[in-house]
Amino acid sequence: MAKVSVSTLAKKKQQGEKITALTAYDASFAKLFHENGVDVVLVGDSLGMVLQGGEDTLAVTTADIAYHTRSVRAGSKELFVIADMPFMSYSNPAQACENAATLMRNGANMVKLEGGTWLTESIQLLNQQGIPVCGHLGLTPQSVHVFGGFKIQGREEQQAQQMIADAQALEAAGAQMLVIECVPSSLAKRISEAVHIPVIGIGAGKEVDGQILVMHDLVGISAGYIPKFSKNFLAETGNMQDAVKKFCDDVKSGAFPGSEHEFN
Ligand code: KIV
Ligand code: NA
Repeated sequence: MAKVSVSTLAKKKQQGEKITALTAYDASFAKLFHENGVDVVLVGDSLGMVLQGGEDTLAVTTADIAYHTRSVRAGSKELFVIADMPFMSYSNPAQACENAATLMRNGANMVKLEGGTWLTESIQLLNQQGIPVCGHLGLTPQSVHVFGGFKIQGREEQQAQQMIADAQALEAAGAQMLVIECVPSSLAKRISEAVHIPVIGIGAGKEVDGQILVMHDLVGISAGYIPKFSKNFLAETGNMQDAVKKFCDDVKSGAFPGSEHEFN
């Protein structure tokens, strides 16, 4: 796999080529994902759940993400690595810069923040300091207690329009990528058409610019329940390498996600 950058990812959107992304938390999986065609790896704060066994992502610290980002980077020099900024690590622009710098120094290529228009000042400042930003809208798990559970977002038209406006505000502030999680497929399509930056979906249907899954879901070993939007690619293929290849092939061909994986 050739080296991936923000420019190659932007070009994929322009050319209509789907972007493939998985979470990873260590060197071995990062290397395996890179070697089998994954464009982007996210060191997600989902590690609070899948690695640490928590019920949500709130206990994760910048030090946790930095440690795993360093491990992932050690697995591949070429990989495009996004590091999640954890809960309350970017509550103001100065704090966002300080914590993002820690993640960049540990090997990230980009940082990801959950939220809408309130983040624009932080995103501008991060960009000015040389730190690329990915936004995250829809079901933003750090706000689980505000939502009252892990629930689909954007079902009402007013909420949908707000999300589109948020996506445009993030882009205008300088975000170079966007993740949208657990929204109706029709809204996900509207969002990816409303911005020029690549929109990566999870539980957002196929009419976006790429797909991301938590790696534990890809291999069917998530603690607790398996989300509706994910698929166990290991069950189908019998080994890790082929599971990753099949995920990438199916995302690129449009076979994944299927209608059974989406919300309407
Ligand atoms: O933490 C994570 O794994 C994420 C993805 C689900 C997008 O943010
Ligand atoms: Na996350």
